[in-house]
Amino acid sequence: MKKIDSYSLRKMWLDFYAEKGHAIISSASLIPENDPTVLFTTAGMHPLVPYLLGAKHPSGTRLADVQKCVRTGDIDEVGDDSHCTFFEMLGNWSLGDYFKKEQIAWSYEFLTSEKYLGIDPNRLAVTVFAGDEDCPRDEESAQLWNECGIPKERIFYLPKSNNWWGPAGITGPCGPDTEMFIVADVDDCSPTCSPACDCGKYLEIWNDVFMQYNKTAEGKFEPLAKRNVDTGMGLERTLCTLQGKKSVYDTDLFIPILEKIRSLATNSDVKAERIIADHIRTSVFIIGDERGVTCSNVDQGYILRRLLRRAIRFGRQLNLNKGDLSKIALTVIDIYKDVYHELATNSDKIIGEINAEEERFEKTLSTGMKEFEKLVFYQKGDTISGKAAFRLYETYGFPVEMTVELAKEHNLKVDTDGFENAYKEHQQKSHAGAEQKFKGGLADHTETITRLHTATHLMHAALKKVLNDENANQKGSNITEERLRFDFTFGRALTPEEIKSVEDMVNDAIKANAPIVCEEMTVEEARAQGAIGLFASKYGEKVKVYTMGEFSKEICGGPHASSTGELGKFRILKEQSSGAGVRRIKAILE
Ligand code: ALA
Repeated sequence: MKKIDSYSLRKMWLDFYAEKGHAIISSASLIPENDPTVLFTTAGMHPLVPYLLGAKHPSGTRLADVQKCVRTGDIDEVGDDSHCTFFEMLGNWSLGDYFKKEQIAWSYEFLTSEKYLGIDPNRLAVTVFAGDEDCPRDEESAQLWNECGIPKERIFYLPKSNNWWGPAGITGPCGPDTEMFIVADVDDCSPTCSPACDCGKYLEIWNDVFMQYNKTAEGKFEPLAKRNVDTGMGLERTLCTLQGKKSVYDTDLFIPILEKIRSLATNSDVKAERIIADHIRTSVFIIGDERGVTCSNVDQGYILRRLLRRAIRFGRQLNLNKGDLSKIALTVIDIYKDVYHELATNSDKIIGEINAEEERFEKTLSTGMKEFEKLVFYQKGDTISGKAAFRLYETYGFPVEMTVELAKEHNLKVDTDGFENAYKEHQQKSHAGAEQKFKGGLADHTETITRLHTATHLMHAALKKVLNDENANQKGSNITEERLRFDFTFGRALTPEEIKSVEDMVNDAIKANAPIVCEEMTVEEARAQGAIGLFASKYGEKVKVYTMGEFSKEICGGPHASSTGELGKFRILKEQSSGAGVRRIKAILE
């Protein structure tokens, strides 16, 4: 097999799809815009949901990109051969344009052509949807693969649990997928060995999703008039397979990071080294993102804190010194800076935040130690309860493994099962919280949310004018049925007069009943016209710009009311700090 490095794989992907008439779009931010359904962008399709649901994309109906993604659900698995909390997904989309015939032929071409991955066709296997009471067997995909040259014995039919994608929520577009695997040169693990088992014979590299049904609230699957294709290839995993490595940590994306760690450490432990490499890489991308966040106790900031504290703890196992993590971060920035320019631009911020969190953790650890000593002093019996261990974890950031070690020094045990239960209970609660937050994303077009979203634009523009500060920029937005919440960069509290002026200005704009006009233009044109918003897109890329009379001009993905008069009366409920140099406003429409 061709040995392909990360740069060539990204480039090959984009060149291939550009050649097939696709617009190449930039990776969206890791922090979803206006979408509280998930904390991070978890797949290439995620930023494109509004378009998969029918909105018109400014770059057309054929798109391809390389998307930054973060998934932390399997954080405890990191350190094995394949799990990472950050990854890049190569993706392409048809928005009501081509469908199975083109996509399967192109997939085969990209995988096997010498110009691209050059994989031996005899080493390819695919899976297709087996069919069930809801939807028929996907014979069409199987037939198309067979026509490309994949023999029947390497086309496997699997159920919904393997070969189905979506909907993203309870209802919406979904459909069968077909997955592609490289077959390792090993024996079947059993007579029923197939890509469904994880014995290591079948290495998944790509997933083509065919969105051809709409799942209704009654649980019916209705054929969609406008069918989409959504595909995803994990960069790290594919590189690992193409480079013939056992682990993603042995690829060119990780080798320099691990070498740096080893040069700083005086102890060695492969798992700890991998965990540090992974967690620092992810932290660099989260802090360095266009909408980057810093450590906190909620949402993305909490995940970042957890990643950094875990890295610090495993760093202790390797005898890393204070300040070493930021040196490792510099290596990460170096690997990626030519692909993700924001990492170079934000490198001071990245280094500063990692060092600051190291300081903070040290302080918490010493307070936590006092708490631990108290616990030992009052301890009855020889086992510290799971609840107490969880409290140390939750309040002082004590990883349970550390509590176990400390307890041992006092001839005590820890009820680790009890800890697991307390941890799971907590996770379920926060999961339920996350699900409740499901509403309000860009894809969520309820009338109230649309009105609140439109009001957010007016408020953003009013803030810049009233505060006379062009840098009062959006840092985050979260909209529920009840209210809008808006974070922006500004160094002090607003005065009551300023708050009143912002309200008045927004209400005047509403009264003026200005039409809301959407235009498509390149990022440069948008900038030249004075539009505000995130300018993360590449040179020449098309974006949507919403203009509301003379009041506001902003780059955005939607959804919006058609005139400002539809909004009602705007009122600010609260203005408060939301971290250093960031203010938060909660407001409603009455
Ligand atoms: N959305 C599909 C995936 O992430 C392509 O696998």
